[in-house]
Amino acid sequence: MKLSLEQMIERTVNFVQDFFKREGTGHDWWHTQRVRKLALKIAIEESVDPFIVEMAALLHDIGDYKFFGGNEQQGYKTIARFLHSLSLSPEATRKILNISTNISYMKTLSGENRSHKEKKSLEFMVVSDADRLDAMGAIGIARAFTYGGYYHRPIYDPNIPPNPDISQEEYKTTEGPSINHFYEKLLKLKDMMYTLYGRQFAQERHHFLELYLERFYDEWEGNK
Ligand code: ADP
Ligand code: NI
Repeated sequence: MKLSLEQMIERTVNFVQDFFKREGTGHDWWHTQRVRKLALKIAIEESVDPFIVEMAALLHDIGDYKFFGGNEQQGYKTIARFLHSLSLSPEATRKILNISTNISYMKTLSGENRSHKEKKSLEFMVVSDADRLDAMGAIGIARAFTYGGYYHRPIYDPNIPPNPDISQEEYKTTEGPSINHFYEKLLKLKDMMYTLYGRQFAQERHHFLELYLERFYDEWEGNK
């Protein structure tokens, strides 16, 4: 029996919710849900295929290396197997797989993404912008400290300076304070947006990050 697009989305939602039931590092279902919503909004602005965008947004964190003990191939296989079960066209399967297994920020650090900017599909750019926006602003701050707490990192240590030129390997293994992450990733995101709409959203979220840091240091010094 051929599934309708709505039925495919519903099955994907169930699959992803089930997968994230035990996740606590900020990669929870609600992160996926926010990325899905924002990506659909940007998709309409950019006139790209909303089905491909919604499916890729729903699946974008399943392939994360962290969930498979560092094994990326395993994530790819999990998504491929799931898409196969929906009997999607080979083209749609290829597109969704390509986006959902390549948008991770970590891959950008190796240059895999950055150097091929012009070759990315519009759907890829839309989902990537939505995912990165969710690491910025008030939500991004909450996620950074949730991640830090989960891995027992200090919130801040004036004796450990951030490394804004962090490499892919260092990004994976750093044990630095959560405030350092702002300089190693969050503050860089506004210049990494692909779409006009993403850039507009990013400006305001970036400004909020800057205000937050200013206030943080003021309180740290007891000035406010
Ligand atoms: P992506 O899914 O874009 O590759 P990550 O897996 O790197 O993102 O990060 C997931 C969430 O955890 C994001 O909100 C990110 O900013 C946050 N995060 C990642 N690494 C750190 C860290 N070392 N300290 C604090 N927060 C982090
Ligand atoms: Ni994500």
